[in-house]
Amino acid sequence: VTRPLADRFGRVATDLRVSLTDRCNLRCSYCMPAEGLDWLPSEQVLTDDEVVRLIGIAVEHLGVDEVRFTGGEPLVRRGLVDVVRRTRELGEHLNLSATTNALGLAKTATALAEAGLDRVNVSLDTVRADTFHTITRRDRLSDVVDGLAAAQAAGLGPVKVNAVLLRGVNDDQAGELLRWCLEHDYHLRFIEQMPLDAQHGWHREAMVTADEIFALLEREFVLTPAAEPRGSAPAELFTVDGGPGTVGVIASVTRPFCGDCDRVRLTADGQVRNCLFAREESDLRTAMRAGATDEELADRWVVAMRGKAAGHGIDDETFLQPTRPMSAIGG
Ligand code: GTP
Ligand code: 5AD
Ligand code: SF4
Repeated sequence: VTRPLADRFGRVATDLRVSLTDRCNLRCSYCMPAEGLDWLPSEQVLTDDEVVRLIGIAVEHLGVDEVRFTGGEPLVRRGLVDVVRRTRELGEHLNLSATTNALGLAKTATALAEAGLDRVNVSLDTVRADTFHTITRRDRLSDVVDGLAAAQAAGLGPVKVNAVLLRGVNDDQAGELLRWCLEHDYHLRFIEQMPLDAQHGWHREAMVTADEIFALLEREFVLTPAAEPRGSAPAELFTVDGGPGTVGVIASVTRPFCGDCDRVRLTADGQVRNCLFAREESDLRTAMRAGATDEELADRWVVAMRGKAAGHGIDDETFLQPTRPMSAIGG
């Protein structure tokens, strides 16, 4: 029997986002400091067997039908291909994806596709090498470009690109990035910056809003709302210059989509988070290592969903940024 991961507001989570590591090989300024963070101690990180067991419980007992691997950077996890293969063995019906910065993807795209991964979303904020270095503090633009091409060639598509615009850094490049993505048939989405950075430096006034993004793009393109229904997808879709190309905007802050949320998260150290902005987590790792059965772990998971808030509350006066940064939750 399947028990749905339902919350008090009638939403049901079917999309599991699994963070496989909190580490990353870039140092994006809006995410973490140049020196990196205090990474999780390895004994707290779930083993491949443990991750696969928990994903199995979500699929077999809790109605999850979509699994996205995130990080940190999921490609830095040694066992990624194996975890994907074992997740695929849980069911042909599963939609399996990863959100990655694409470093090293050129080498692993084929293996990931063969292991059963359906598609990837790649984070890329600029196609200029100097701006790439300014944002990520690394000179790896060509690796990302190669990774994107390899993903597409391996059939890991439609390949989506996620971009965050930073005022005075790359907000003048929105059109250029869109043109480049249209040329390569990558599906670009611009994301509003959320208060999830490790440095706690987010300011609403500094965030480039969805309205600003539209204004920037409409100088160069004609955008028309796309016909296809959005469902629970975070991105609002627009056709560009009559199509077939599209661009998406993920307006998490100014146009929250929490009412349609179907997501639940598992951190690399085995904590269930019912929301990106959750203030509490449910510790499946400790329960599992103490010998809990699949049924017991499923129970805990169901209970964890009851605490899910109606929304992220970024606009509330009482808003508090979660202690875990984006890099340790997974996007
Ligand atoms: P697709 O199924 O490919 O559309 O995936 P996605 O857009 O859900 O996933 P992706 O990992 O590419 O996420 C892109 C961005 O969307 C993330 O970096 C977040 O900024 C935002 N996002 C994803 N899920 C959530 C969510 O549950 N809440 C909020 N507020 N933002 C989210
Ligand atoms: N707000 C919005 N998006 C963010 N990302 C990282 N930090 C933030 C933030 N504070 C994006 C990355 C990547 C995706 C996983 O999340 O650029 O595309
Ligand atoms: Fe879902 Fe929380 Fe994201 Fe809102 S902020 S869409 S409730 S995960």
